[in-house]
This record gives sequence, C-alpha cells and structure tokens, in this order.
Amino acid sequence: MNEGIITAAYIIAGLLFIMSLAGLSKQDSAEAGNWFGIVGMAIALIATIANPSVTGVPLIIACMAIGGFIGIRLAKKVEMTEMPELVAILHSFVGLAAVFVGFNSYFDHSVLMMGAALTIHSVEVFLGVFIGAVTFTGSIVAFAKLRGIINTSALMLPQRHKLNLIAIIACIYLMVQFVQAGGATAPLLIMTVIAFVFGWHLVASIGGADMPVVVSMLNSYSGWAAASAGFMLGNDLLIITGALVGSSGAILSYIMCKAMNRSFFSVIAGGFGTDVHIASDVDYGDHIEITAEATADLLCEAKTVVITPGYGMAVAQAQYPVYEITRALQDKGIEVRFAIHPVAGRLPGHMNVLLAEAKVPYDIVLGMDEINDDFSKTDVVLVIGANDTVNPAAAEDPTSPIAGMPVCEVWNAKQVIVFKRSMNTGYAGVQNPLFFKDNTAMLFGDAKDSVEKIFKAL
Ligand code: TAP
Repeated sequence: MNEGIITAAYIIAGLLFIMSLAGLSKQDSAEAGNWFGIVGMAIALIATIANPSVTGVPLIIACMAIGGFIGIRLAKKVEMTEMPELVAILHSFVGLAAVFVGFNSYFDHSVLMMGAALTIHSVEVFLGVFIGAVTFTGSIVAFAKLRGIINTSALMLPQRHKLNLIAIIACIYLMVQFVQAGGATAPLLIMTVIAFVFGWHLVASIGGADMPVVVSMLNSYSGWAAASAGFMLGNDLLIITGALVGSSGAILSYIMCKAMNRSFFSVIAGGFGTDVHIASDVDYGDHIEITAEATADLLCEAKTVVITPGYGMAVAQAQYPVYEITRALQDKGIEVRFAIHPVAGRLPGHMNVLLAEAKVPYDIVLGMDEINDDFSKTDVVLVIGANDTVNPAAAEDPTSPIAGMPVCEVWNAKQVIVFKRSMNTGYAGVQNPLFFKDNTAMLFGDAKDSVEKIFKAL
C-alpha cells in the first residue's frame, strides 16, 4: 500500500469514527453507529499493518490474535452490570501503552533531532508518559473499587489535596529539567513514578456515588494518552481517534458533573465528596414491610404509578416482568411511567438499555428532571432496586457524602414501595432515610420474584 492510499484510508476511518459517535448518541441509530466504528477500526488496522514502513508484521498479527482472543472471551463473559469494570481496566491498557510508547520514543535515537523539533519531541514524550501513567494506575484503582476489591477510605491519605498539588508541581519542575536537557533519563523516570502514585491517589480519594464521573474522566484521559502516543508515533489517525475519545469523554464527564451537581474542576483535581463522614449509627426508627399481594391491591386502587428502577433491577433482570405489570396496570386504565436517574445502575443509560430490551415504549420513560415535579401527584411509586438515586439525604442532609446530588424525589408521592433484599446500603455505602418514612413500605426479596408475584396477584 502506498502512502497516498494509507492517508486516504486514515481519513475514511476518522470520518467513520465521527459517524460512529454521532450514531451512538441516539437509541435508534446506535446499532448503525456501532457498525461505523467496527468498519472504521478494521480499515485503520489494515492500513496500519499494510504500511511498508511497518516491520515485524507477523509478530503484530500474532499479538493481535492473542489479544483479540482474550478480548472476545472476556466480552462474551462479562455481565451488563460489570461493564464499567471492564471499561476501567481497558482504559488502564491504553495508559500503559502510552507509557511504553513514550519511553520507546525517548530511547529511540534513530532520528537526530535538534532545536525546536527536539523541544517539541521532549514535551510530547514527557506529557505522553505523564498522562499514560496517571491513566494506568487511576484506572486500576477504579476497576478495583467498582469490583469491590478495595474500599475508598482505606486508601485516603491525610492532606490529600496538598499531596496532589505537590505531585503536580514536582512533575512540572521535572518537565522543565527534562526539556532543558533535551531529554534526560532521571527526570523522566522520577516523574513516571510520581505519576503512577498520583494517578492511584487521585482516583482513590474520589468516593462512593461519584465513581461514574471518575470512569468517564478516565475515559477522557485514555483518549488524551492515545493522542499523545499518536504524536510520538507520527500517526495522524491515532491523534484523531485519541482526540475524539478525549473530548467526548470530557463532554460526558461534564454532563455527568452537571447531573450530579458536582464541580467539573473538583473532579479533575480529585477527591470531592469524601470530606464528610458516613454516619452509620443514626437511628432512623423502624421500617414498615409489605407483601406482594398487598402491593398489588395498592396498585389496583391507584390512578397514577411511577416506577423508579435502579441497579437491583439489572441484577435481578426484572425488566421483563416489570413491563408485564406495566401493561396489566395500563389495561386497568392506570397511568404508568418510568423515572430514570442519570446514574442509576452502573453505566450511563443502563436503565434505558434494559427497558428498551424489554420493549417498554420510549414515551413513558422519562428522565429525572422531567418527572421530579410529578411525584407529589403520584399515588404509588415502585422503587425497584434503586437506592442512592432515591436517597432523600442527598437533598436534606448537608453532611451526607452524597449531599447536593439531585435524586428522584420519590418520597413526595402518596405511597412508596421499595423492592430490595435487605436493609443494606447502596453503592455509595450511605444509609437511606427513605426506607424509614411513614409513606414507605419495604417489599423484601429478589426484585424479579417480587414483580412476578405482583403480576400473579394482579
Ligand atoms: P444502588 O445505590 O447501587 O443500590 C442498588 C440496590 O439494589 C441495593 O441497595 C441492593 O439492595 C438492591 N439489589 C441488588 N440486587 C437486587 C436484587 N436481585 N433484587 C432486589 N434488589 C436488589 O443503585 P442505584 O440507585 O441505581 O444507584 C446507582 C449507584 O451506582 C450510584 O451511587 C451511582 O453513582 C453508582 N454508579 C453508577 C454508575 C453509572 S454510570 N450509572 C457507574 C458506577 C457507579 P439489597 O442488597 O438489599 O438487595
């Protein structure tokens, strides 16, 4: 393949990636968006391997085959609820790759560089390794937190904001040393160690319900790490792809920050939401329990019902019976709608995907902002496996770790039924005062079993 064809292939791949992102932003064009991405990536890989200047093609193909085999196996096995963990660990690979590319580019003296070219190259190497190292360890911590292997508080150092700031200042100083020397091994190595620790500490200090923002932030960092690798390798497509991932991840982080009422800059700086203590010894009083049959009776008497699903619905795979009861209630002339919190579940749009899978019509699925004012006019709210996203402490308790995060204000309805298996806390590890309110009743058990029992009773 000659240079011209390769450049053309890269431009087509770049356009397909942009079309892929555009397609993925809407439910009905998402499948086409996926295909654009797949075709774009196939073209990009073929054009890169077929480049006459690339050596060691058999080795590259062998590595791709091994990586592809492991990737397909993992992707097939992974549950929908484990998707953010998979995404987090994949980001760590991008980060590590950027570190390797950076060191390789530093030690590779095949092209003699001087003056401005050398300065630019040194900055590229330094920044590429820094972003890659932060992304690598940050993503490993995110993976371990999402999987529940490590807990937040165990990793938080005192004075962590100051430590983060010192780390950044030290890295800037080392960068100046590195660039002035036209590349020197010691500052690069010291910065790499600091960046590994910094990435670890940055993500470790962000707590509980704020993890979705961290994952999208790391997504953005991994994009910038790839773009910097593109600069070092002189590969335009990698620069374009990295910039697309970096900027779309940054936009998603920004949207999520707005949805969660968090400051974008405090996320980037790390460590918001954990300055407060989780009060586990507060006595909220007693909770009331209800049976599936009594819930069915309440539903039959209602005129308006809102279903607020959360992570537990995904675990129980209760979306199918949930749609069955929805139709049964609609047949009785009862209005049923769904209230979706932006971070309900474990990945953006998680609830929308599950409900679409069960063929729930889009027009009765509303976002939190669209429906929050209607709870006071609602007879019965079914909270199916949601916890943090319906926690009144976010609105009422300024000392709560989730204070300020907008939540579905289900407690304003006449009657709330919470479907879960125990009184355990949700993802953020914060007790939920909703469970102890007079107009709340707990329906204990697996969400799917409970919904099926209600359907039978209806
Ligand atoms: P959570 O606060 O995670 O609570 C889920 C509840 O479901 C738990 O309290 C659990 O209680 C219950 N549950 C689990 N399995 C169940 C089953 N089989 N049947 C019935 N109930 C079951 O849920 P949420 O309200 O959706 O909030 C999401 C949380 O995850 C937020 O803190 C969010 O920040 C975080 N997060 C979100 C994302 C994205 S992007 N969406 C990514 C990472 C983290 P029991 O154990 O008592 O049953």
